[in-house]
Amino acid sequence: MTFSNYIAGRWVPSRSGRVLENRNPADQTDLIGAFQESTPDDAAEAIAAASRAYTSWRLVPAPRRAEMLFRAAALLAARKEAFARDMTREMGKVLEETRGDVQEAIDMTYFLAGEGRRLYGQTAPSELRSKFAMSIRQPVGVCAIITPWNFPMAIPSWKIVPALVCGNTVVFKPASLTPLSAVHFVTVLEEAGIPPGVVNLVTGGADVGTLLSTHPDVPVVSFTGSTAVGRVVNQHAAAACKKVHLEMGGKNVVIIMDDAQLELAVDGCLWGGFGTSGQRCTAASRVVVHERVYDAFVEAFVRRAKALRIGDGLDPSVQMGPVVSEAQLATVGRYVEIGRQEGAALLAGGRRLGDGPYARGFFHEPTIFGDVAPAMRIAQEEIFGPVVSVMRCRSLDEAIAIGNGVAYGLSASIYTRDVNTAFTAMRDMYTGLFYVNAPTIGAEVHLPFGGTKATGNGHREAGTAALDVFSEWKSVYIDFSGRLQRAQIDTDEV
Ligand code: UN1
Repeated sequence: MTFSNYIAGRWVPSRSGRVLENRNPADQTDLIGAFQESTPDDAAEAIAAASRAYTSWRLVPAPRRAEMLFRAAALLAARKEAFARDMTREMGKVLEETRGDVQEAIDMTYFLAGEGRRLYGQTAPSELRSKFAMSIRQPVGVCAIITPWNFPMAIPSWKIVPALVCGNTVVFKPASLTPLSAVHFVTVLEEAGIPPGVVNLVTGGADVGTLLSTHPDVPVVSFTGSTAVGRVVNQHAAAACKKVHLEMGGKNVVIIMDDAQLELAVDGCLWGGFGTSGQRCTAASRVVVHERVYDAFVEAFVRRAKALRIGDGLDPSVQMGPVVSEAQLATVGRYVEIGRQEGAALLAGGRRLGDGPYARGFFHEPTIFGDVAPAMRIAQEEIFGPVVSVMRCRSLDEAIAIGNGVAYGLSASIYTRDVNTAFTAMRDMYTGLFYVNAPTIGAEVHLPFGGTKATGNGHREAGTAALDVFSEWKSVYIDFSGRLQRAQIDTDEV
């Protein structure tokens, strides 16, 4: 089956005449569909459609815009199972997790549709008589939405729904590995009554993203992906002073203190490290363990990782699916080799799985390195695969120093039963997300999501913080005194 772009309310082919094949990472003989390999011209056409639609969409009352989004949330809920199955086929994570991905899109859509009746500004007293002061949110215009493959429906919803409720229009370029989930999401928005041109979908590669981030008629770019690409998006957008929201890499840490409930910590590290085959920006890719419990933790963690059932995510007994692509598998293999050469101890996994049921997919064993030094590359660089580095510490201070000693600042967690220890780590870990007695993954939609340092550029998505990316503040003064009143000058009048 061949799928189209969606521009100005019509499903249309790319001008290129070319398509990209989308195949199942658990079984490369399973062809999911052909998707448009779009050109910059297609993207420009989508921007023109979004610009035209903006003139009327921005004037639709926000509660009316929100009604369409509530309908979209209900449609997503009705199709959750089918969308989750397609997502597992498309990018490999297990069905339980793809159901969670669709659920995250449902939750986000309901939550932000609720903002249609809020979008609150402030009213404030004026320093002058008979004068009214307030601030209101204004839409910005056409938003370019560039999303990754690891949360193919959740992350698009985090960006598209707040953009729409604020009154913007959208051109959406999903990762080329997950176009089907994007088609599903846009189909739902179309059925929910979002007018033609308000949301446009253009599938394709990097040149489409480049056009979107450089085009003069796009004032907002929201990007989730690698730090390397995010930096380029930022540079592209800088020349035109676009508003750019970047959500990039992570090298998240779980700290395990000597008073921790060890079985709970092991459960958390398995879920945080190997959930989504380690392909989350929030993945628990580093574990720092107090020396008094290091051996006990490592023994249990390795035993449990070796027992994880790997396979096709559609099989309900499977706990970890494939990685998403041949390229991703090669990256994982490269880092395993780097870890060995750096002198870390390979305690579990380390190999590609290629025989029998694994022969047609991109499978890799859950991999654990022990005795890792904090400066090693496997403890510093984002791998985005099922590889966890375990380190030793002697104190909370040392654990926090190791935790903060990376370029990224997305998520961190601590396992301890001591409230003072927990709160100290909460205060001192310089990250955007922090967990106590839970792994580094599992953020909920109604709180801000994002990170510090090389993870982001100061914006947040999710929660009501997302509204700040997709709206501009306007401060409004209404003088009903009937005479000239001068702020800061007529200070003697009472
Ligand atoms: C990501 O890793 O790219 O908090 C997003 C979590 C999910 C979102 C992850 N709700 O792990």
